[in-house]
Amino acid sequence: MAEVVILENEHSAGDLAASYILAAIAEHPDVVLGLATGSSPASTYAALTRRVRAEGTDVSGVRGFALDEYVGLPAEHPESYREVIRREVIQPIGLDPARIHVPNGDIATIAEASGAFEQAIAEAGGVEIQLLGIGASGHIGFNEPGSSLASVTRVKTLTEKTRNDNARFFDRLDDVPTHCITQGIGTILRARRLILLAFGEGKAHALAAAVEGPVSASIPASAIQLHPHVTVIVDEAAASHL
Ligand code: GLP
Repeated sequence: MAEVVILENEHSAGDLAASYILAAIAEHPDVVLGLATGSSPASTYAALTRRVRAEGTDVSGVRGFALDEYVGLPAEHPESYREVIRREVIQPIGLDPARIHVPNGDIATIAEASGAFEQAIAEAGGVEIQLLGIGASGHIGFNEPGSSLASVTRVKTLTEKTRNDNARFFDRLDDVPTHCITQGIGTILRARRLILLAFGEGKAHALAAAVEGPVSASIPASAIQLHPHVTVIVDEAAASHL
């Protein structure tokens, strides 16, 4: 059973998630973080940035693995997750870019990318704290409904729903990639702690299904119920169907 913390707003949620991460850094300066993209973790990264700067925290040893990446975008494309992680996480918090890894979505090497990423996580000793958002369809990472609960990092086709949801980051829907490389649900479940963040009415249905519904591949986020250490941090609107 996941622990669910309902807070008044995204700002307080970010403060709480950041405090868990800072405690983990204090314990292990080379902690391995699982990094999510999207709007849900933004307040966590903002709180981390503020506190690391205010408290002079040494984050030079922190390691990280992103959840997912589009396939086929040039790495320097502003919406590639490699760029998003650089701009929204590495730069503001002051992490060492050499220690932060994003799955490689380059078409030329995509056949080897999944295995290489799984191996890199294993060699790092696994992820200590995995941040997660949740898609309106109940997806985590880019594990769309129907994904095996035992899945590992692999290439997936994006659903039209997710392409439409993410079209806001691109000039046109046609520019949204059709494929992605994503950590699997099995990969995510191997992290030692999960923190799932969800805000707004638009997430309420998926969140209720994930936390209180049956564990099912049709709601990939419901797999968090299989994990022994999960904290779900939400606002009132996202909690409204619980
Ligand atoms: C994308 C990402 C997910 C993210 C989801 C929700 O599909 N691949 O990792 O959780 O969107 O995004 P947001 O937090 O912006 O609502």
